[in-house]
Amino acid sequence: MQIFRTKSISDYLADASQTHFKKALSAMDVVFLGVGIIVGTGIFVMPGVAAAQYAGPALMLSFILASVACGFVSLLYSELASTLPVAGSSYAYAYASLGEVMAWLVGWNLVLEYTVGASAVAGGWSAYVTGVLKSAGVMLPEALTKVPADGGIVNLPAVLITLFLMLLLIRGVRESTMVNRVLVVVKLSAIFLFLFLAAPHVDVTNFEPFMPFGWAGVSAGAAVIIFGYLGFDAISTAAEETKKPERDMPIGIIGSLLICTVLYIAVTAVMTGNVPYTQLDNAEPVAFTLRELGYRFGSAVVGTGAIAGLTTVLLNMMYAQTRAFFAMSRDGLIPQSVCALSTRFATPYRVTIAVGFVVAFCSGFTPINVLAEMCSVGTLFAFIVASIGAAVMRRRYPDAHRPFLCPAINVIAVLSVLSCGYIMYNLSSMTWVRFWVWSALGLAIYFLYGYKHSRENTGAKLKVGE
Ligand code: ALA
Repeated sequence: MQIFRTKSISDYLADASQTHFKKALSAMDVVFLGVGIIVGTGIFVMPGVAAAQYAGPALMLSFILASVACGFVSLLYSELASTLPVAGSSYAYAYASLGEVMAWLVGWNLVLEYTVGASAVAGGWSAYVTGVLKSAGVMLPEALTKVPADGGIVNLPAVLITLFLMLLLIRGVRESTMVNRVLVVVKLSAIFLFLFLAAPHVDVTNFEPFMPFGWAGVSAGAAVIIFGYLGFDAISTAAEETKKPERDMPIGIIGSLLICTVLYIAVTAVMTGNVPYTQLDNAEPVAFTLRELGYRFGSAVVGTGAIAGLTTVLLNMMYAQTRAFFAMSRDGLIPQSVCALSTRFATPYRVTIAVGFVVAFCSGFTPINVLAEMCSVGTLFAFIVASIGAAVMRRRYPDAHRPFLCPAINVIAVLSVLSCGYIMYNLSSMTWVRFWVWSALGLAIYFLYGYKHSRENTGAKLKVGE
């Protein structure tokens, strides 16, 4: 039963105290990080197809369903992040509560969320940039803007933006969060401009029929747009870099989730209230709606905002992946040399370079839809395990210092597992097959490498710096 060995909270805190990240982030930075990582394809790309093909105007209910599930998860994550303010997010929580093999599986599935999700977002970024350049009269060759499955050679804009952001992340969190702040402000301005221009034109007859595909359509819609919420959990990976994690983490996680929920429902309501849902079947529904209303300049502004929005999501997803890998390498489940921080920038530069190149490769050569589906299933799995872990953690460490307490934790944990499980159940069967294959591969790697090299097994000291 060695595979269920746990790493205690005190061991985690001892490791964290030896690893000197800059403690540069305030609560406000964390909210910006949250909005930066959450609001992207989920608002700019996905609602159109989801409304047209799955839920109709009732996509608003899909968003509510997804936000309720994420709301339960966010309460649990807030307690976990304030109790265990270390890099690693759900991976670390699972390690402290449910044991090593579950932690590894969560960490392995976080690769789906962050690296594979980032690759999907890079693909979306490229599509928007190509579109905006095209409307400005600059035509990029298709061979260099499409993946091979879509008839191209490589999606070069996706590769280039990924490598550029990789360099920013190596330079350090302060510079990156400044860029992040500017981009977040640009994308929020674009969303508010959309609401300001389009809301007065809402025609309630467009809400009829409200639920054209019934409740099944609403559930299927939630499984598609859950991608739009992904990322709020990633905020907790920055816990070691916040000034006051016990306060900054709950504010950051719950605050950014609330902001995003309000924005998503408002944008969906205004969009489906302006254009019959059947016409929204395209990859740029927000810009499309404005064009339909005759606001061509507004449409261009929103296009720019979408590019800014997708940039922040991409930046933050890559950031989160480096911190999750960092935590796993620190525990010996992946080679510990990956853990080394750069003496110049105090960032884990090796793992950042590795993540940058993998994201660049995936986004350059793999279709977005394949990547996005894999991202959702891996994340929901991590949510479910972390939710169970939160309840177990209360029992296992009754005396731990808990600056933020999730109310009625057992009830919330059960509701979280049920709601995430329900959304997972609505994902396509191909996605499930890929998920099982991915998890089996992960388990094989664990038994071949992690089980033996785990610091819980070897007792090795933590290596820090260089
Ligand atoms: N929530 C992120 C997005 O919508 C993944 O792009």
